[in-house]
Amino acid sequence: MAFQICDLQPTDIGAAIRLLEEVRQLPDSTPIEIDQFITEVNDGAVVVVALAEGALVGLTSARVAGDRAWTQFLAISPEWRRRGIGSALTTGLENRLLHLGVRRVTALLEPGRIGEQALVNRGYVPTTGMVLYEKSLSFEPSEVRIIDSWGGQILDTDLWSQLAGMEREKLLIDQRIVAPLADPSLASEVGLRLPGTVLMFGPPGTGKTTFARGLASRLGWPFVELLPSKLASGEGRLAGELREALAELGHLEHVVIFIDEFDEIAPARESSPASAGVVNELLKSIPELRRRPGKLLVCATNFVETIDPAVLRPGRFDLLIGIGPPDLDALRALWDQSLGGMNVHSEVDIESIAERCIGFTPGDVDLAAQRAASLAFSRARHGGDAVVTAADIDDAVERTSPSVTREMYDTFRAEVAAFERI
Ligand SMILES: Nc1ncnc2c1ncn2[C@@H]1O[C@H](COP(=O)(O)OP(=O)(O)O)[C@@H](O)[C@H]1O
Ligand SMILES: [Mg+2]
Repeated sequence: MAFQICDLQPTDIGAAIRLLEEVRQLPDSTPIEIDQFITEVNDGAVVVVALAEGALVGLTSARVAGDRAWTQFLAISPEWRRRGIGSALTTGLENRLLHLGVRRVTALLEPGRIGEQALVNRGYVPTTGMVLYEKSLSFEPSEVRIIDSWGGQILDTDLWSQLAGMEREKLLIDQRIVAPLADPSLASEVGLRLPGTVLMFGPPGTGKTTFARGLASRLGWPFVELLPSKLASGEGRLAGELREALAELGHLEHVVIFIDEFDEIAPARESSPASAGVVNELLKSIPELRRRPGKLLVCATNFVETIDPAVLRPGRFDLLIGIGPPDLDALRALWDQSLGGMNVHSEVDIESIAERCIGFTPGDVDLAAQRAASLAFSRARHGGDAVVTAADIDDAVERTSPSVTREMYDTFRAEVAAFERI
């Protein structure tokens, strides 16, 4: 009996949905969620249908991104099976895709579902030995609303691995924070209390913000930065808004809350009486937050000694970690990373470069590396080799002053001795 393959017309959407409803119940059909189908159609999916005797008896669809397309199902009315409609639909779909510039089509089907034979007929090769990894995203819509309203982000999962060097700090953060939070049942079995509050201190540019983001990315928890400038909408409102923010974010199952420049929020009340309200608020709300598992408050400061001592006491902050300038190992790793994407002359010796960069922050290393690349670029424009030489790097290092001076480093060591609690 004759059938005809054509594009889905808007007037046929009702018939398409009825067909999907009909085949949903059949054991060998891939169940398709109707609302997913409608979303795909609205998003511009390619849908090809089979018409016979004036009725819509088969359909298939594909989503397109660039030169690739994905298809997930083939629906054929039970009375119209085994007449070549599956292969014809697949061919029709491929023709449409080809005209859209698609060069590769991936079809995902459970074994034994209708559509397998059509794919084989059309020369699709099954990929064996692959395992499908699936994950249900764990955020409720209400949580997403809270995260969005505070400008929070779900960060990429690989931020942590992009942190070069800093092995001491990474190990510390991994063992004392990430591991217990990631395995709370084991922690409770031994009686280890989960960390809820962490303060990172140290000179500017050493990676405190980067570590905070890396932590959230490693845990897979949303990251919300509370900016005092955004919180305080009016005079004297900071304390109240901070309380509201912490209370609302406390409703999330998991969250990393980050407050940068914490010294500005919680300076010693003696020297800054105007801030007493905020400090008093923090003294109440931090312990409250700590009582709710799954929340981590991370604060950062360049001036740990100016923070109100009451805020730093055990019971408020679980851990106080000094993040200093990179040591030699870390400098080597940072240079490796910064030079990684460059065309570097083989004589370049990272060891000896690292030794000359004491006090350099990761940003300084990157700046020096870019300065070296810029020298090589200028030379190449005038006919030279497009290669970064040891002399370029020497010049660049010479011109870059360390962000952490000797004096700042000594201050930092003294702060670590006085404040670090790990
Ligand atoms: N360990 C690291 N590896 C690579 N880049 C880093 C590292 N630490 C910091 N950076 C980079 O250095 C810059 C400054 O870091 P940041 O976290 O803002 O410092 P801080 O918050 O301590 O002032 C950022 O651009 C960051 O990407
Ligand atoms: Mg910072």
